[in-house]
Amino acid sequence: MFGFSKKLLRISTTLCLICGSILILLAIALKFSSLDCYLDDTRQMIDLNTAACRDHYYKALNLSASGKKNCTKIIQGDWEEVSQTLLENLEVKKRRVVASDKDYIELAKDCATFKTARKYITFSVSTEEANYPIAYSMVVHGEIESFERLLRTVYTPQNIYCVHVDAKSSDTFHQAVRAIVSCFDNVFVASKLESVVYASWSRVQADLNCMEDLLNSTVQWKYLINTCGTDFPLKTNAEIVKALKLFNGKNNLESEEPPGRKKWRWENHFEVKKNIVNTNIKKGPPPLNIKVFSGKAYIVVTKDFVRALFEIPFVKEFMEWAKDTYSPDEFLWASLNRVPWMPGSFPRHVIFDNSDMNSLARLVKWQDMEGDIKHGAPYSPCMGIHRREVCVYGTGDLPWLLQQQHLFANKFDPKVDDHALQCLEEHLRFKTFYGDIM
Ligand SMILES: *[C@@H]1O[C@H](CO)[C@@H](O)[C@H](O)[C@H]1NC(C)=O
Ligand SMILES: *[C@@H]1O[C@H](CO)[C@@H](O)[C@H](O)[C@H]1NC(C)=O
Ligand SMILES: *[C@@H]1O[C@H](CO)[C@@H](O)[C@H](O)[C@H]1NC(C)=O
Repeated sequence: MFGFSKKLLRISTTLCLICGSILILLAIALKFSSLDCYLDDTRQMIDLNTAACRDHYYKALNLSASGKKNCTKIIQGDWEEVSQTLLENLEVKKRRVVASDKDYIELAKDCATFKTARKYITFSVSTEEANYPIAYSMVVHGEIESFERLLRTVYTPQNIYCVHVDAKSSDTFHQAVRAIVSCFDNVFVASKLESVVYASWSRVQADLNCMEDLLNSTVQWKYLINTCGTDFPLKTNAEIVKALKLFNGKNNLESEEPPGRKKWRWENHFEVKKNIVNTNIKKGPPPLNIKVFSGKAYIVVTKDFVRALFEIPFVKEFMEWAKDTYSPDEFLWASLNRVPWMPGSFPRHVIFDNSDMNSLARLVKWQDMEGDIKHGAPYSPCMGIHRREVCVYGTGDLPWLLQQQHLFANKFDPKVDDHALQCLEEHLRFKTFYGDIM
């Protein structure tokens, strides 16, 4: 009898211990799983595998467009919805005033407040992205709000961002960029700043300055993407990573047989004063039998390609030759991408020619190409306005923009059509949380 109750006591003690341990384990598991869904500045990586987590973060970090417009409808091509925003753009009263240099200097004084108020995503949203850093060379000269909204949308903690600010930009612009940049360990201002003269070598040099700094960074980035102040992404970081992996070590940029009407650009010697001037003095052909191809300033290139720019002596020779030409940014990268000894390049054979529409680097609507697709035009007319013969997109361009394969598009301007930018911001942020998570 005594022995039996002793045994019972022993069993119940054991049971209690087991039950207790299970309860404690459950509590720990619960605590950690719920912790996963709390914003914590110190965490670098958050798995968005559960629906509850995604909802939790999206609620805090969405970039929902302001006002009555429904961006989903706009992106689906609902013209009634688009015309509403067009009408709003015409009403001066309703236009939002863009944020100034001073606004940003003030807001970024307290970095924690800045990141929260501007809804930066300060953690990686997937392991695959965390393991695939990208380097950005961002060349800017003004319009602080455009720069900051671009940075906010492409920002992730694993990437590395170099910002080249035009040496002749205003003091307050320099201060505002530095204030923003000071809030992030992985965003910095280039160590050398050029005074950028339109269509001159200085535009290339600005990117080169950033590239050199980016090569010196300890971040193990795989590809470099360059942007200017009027660019905006059409894809999320996860989608960009997927695309870069598919490039498989090749560069991706426009590079085509140059049209005859552009040859004067590198057949004459140009001088840079306040502007660039044609001296009409003839120049020799490029050295090393390099063939000139035409393209744009926008590139997506591998780290090995960037390294080669500084390490291969032939490149230096070609660059020296290009320094006194007109708009070298629009042929230098395109030509180097067709030289056999450049990493990630393509043979010069015509079958490797790549138009801006077929490459992924940048989507641009050129005024002289717009027209009726039914009659052979590459795209329909711009729904915003034209600047330097390029479309500054309006909301009506969004359905088309989001049907293309390009990673980035140019040009956007919140003063021309803020609704277009807002809808892109909303769309990309939604896809960051609810798109294909890798
Ligand atoms: C978007 O964020 C705001 C807070 O800024 C929040 O009140 C709202 O509920 C969020 N919307 C969605 C759809 O999660
Ligand atoms: C916006 O439009 C979509 C598609 O028509 C609809 O599903 C969604 O509920 C709308 N959103 C709002 C907030 O009205
Ligand atoms: C990059 O690093 C090397 C070696 O540490 C240094 O000599 C060079 O000046 C650095 N370049 C830049 C642009 O900081």
